[in-house]
Amino acid sequence: MKTQVCIIGGGPSGLMLSQLLHLKGIDTVVLERQSREYVLGRIRAGVLEHGFAELMREAQCGERMDKEGEIHDGFLIAHGGQVSRVDLHKYSGGSSVVVYGQTELTRDLYAARDRMNGVVIHNAEDVQPHDLKSATPYVTYRSGDEVVRIDCDFVIGADGFHGVSRKSIPRDVLKEYEKVYPFGWLGVLSRTKPVSPELIYAKHERGFALCSLRSQVLSRYYIQVPLTDSVEDWSDDAFWAELKRRLPADVAAQLVTGASIEKSIAPLRSFVAEPMRYGNLFLAGDAAHIVPPTGARGLNSAASDIYYLYHAMLAHYQNGDSTGLDQYSEKALARVWKAQRFSWWMTTMLHTFPDSIAYDQKLQETDLAYLFSSEAAQRSLAENYVGLPF
Ligand code: FAD
Ligand code: DHB
Repeated sequence: MKTQVCIIGGGPSGLMLSQLLHLKGIDTVVLERQSREYVLGRIRAGVLEHGFAELMREAQCGERMDKEGEIHDGFLIAHGGQVSRVDLHKYSGGSSVVVYGQTELTRDLYAARDRMNGVVIHNAEDVQPHDLKSATPYVTYRSGDEVVRIDCDFVIGADGFHGVSRKSIPRDVLKEYEKVYPFGWLGVLSRTKPVSPELIYAKHERGFALCSLRSQVLSRYYIQVPLTDSVEDWSDDAFWAELKRRLPADVAAQLVTGASIEKSIAPLRSFVAEPMRYGNLFLAGDAAHIVPPTGARGLNSAASDIYYLYHAMLAHYQNGDSTGLDQYSEKALARVWKAQRFSWWMTTMLHTFPDSIAYDQKLQETDLAYLFSSEAAQRSLAENYVGLPF
């Protein structure tokens, strides 16, 4: 098989790039290790920044997002017995975020690929990139007993944190930066009315909690849990009881509980791999960087990688100009590190750290007190949350 761009990973990053390039007449093949049902069963991001929503529209995939997604102009932070609002619209100069689930967005991207006869190969086993430093790289995968070879100009590693692409870069070339947090998020999805029209990030001595949503009939809640906990340790009743303890009393009293339709634990990690290019392999999204979910930056950082790659590929194929490809790693990493800083800051300010000393706790309280006493601080939060310019 032959293509121009072979994309490893059929998550949002890989599908989005495939769709954008296809619309410009550039041929792609997407190789996904899992079945489509498996990919669509993962409940992850819910908050999209403006730039991401624009990219969905450019990919001709924004119709349902624009109809069913909710525009949010602000969110709430509960802390020390009070609830303060961050006015995103006011402090970002008129911008906002879109609440639309990663699952739905991935479904829309798959539908668009199907409509245009895009090649997305599921259940591709043992995917392996080869000859990445040459002008003629190729990727192999196994389908049953058959090994298939795909010759291409470029390989895109959009295969998430546990993928094969990053691991194909020699260890003496790759530098990895990592910070692992001593807790995870237990998430529950339930077919219940959300407790609040806007998201609530709650700082509490028992641990952080987040009230989010997917629609007015679908709620997404998270609580901070120790890394030693497993999903089996948490019945639905235990989850709701703990969530209520961490929310302000009037909010807890309003909480509508119900059976969980998904429950999972995500460990919190910050991670960056540099460089994001090795020969003709380009890493994008979670394959190259991970953030703790607190600032809702993960999928949005993936989108900025795709934006840079898409424009770099266009310049290469349409004008023979490879400057964008040459500058990709540096440009993408500059924005990635800003998302790392913001996610680390939000995480540090709002979580309960098992080994924190009284001094650290005072600083956390002061961070929040400063935030809500300073328009400059709220402006800084807002511009990061709605997404820095690409
Ligand atoms: P992935 O979604 O991981 O996709 C990679 C794909 O590659 C997968 O389908 C995988 O099966 C496939 N793959 C892996 N290995 C191989 C292989 N060897 N061969 C072929 N295919 C392979 N981000 C936000 O911006 N906002 C939020 O509100 C937010 N909330 C989150 C909440 C939680 C609980 C979690 C866990 C994450 C959240 N994120 C959020 C982060 C976001 O979900 C990720 O950043 C996003 O999924 C990254 O997309 P991706 O396509 O780069 O990687
Ligand atoms: C969601 C996840 C986040 O990490 C976040 O900051 C906001 C919302 C969510 O899954 O809805």
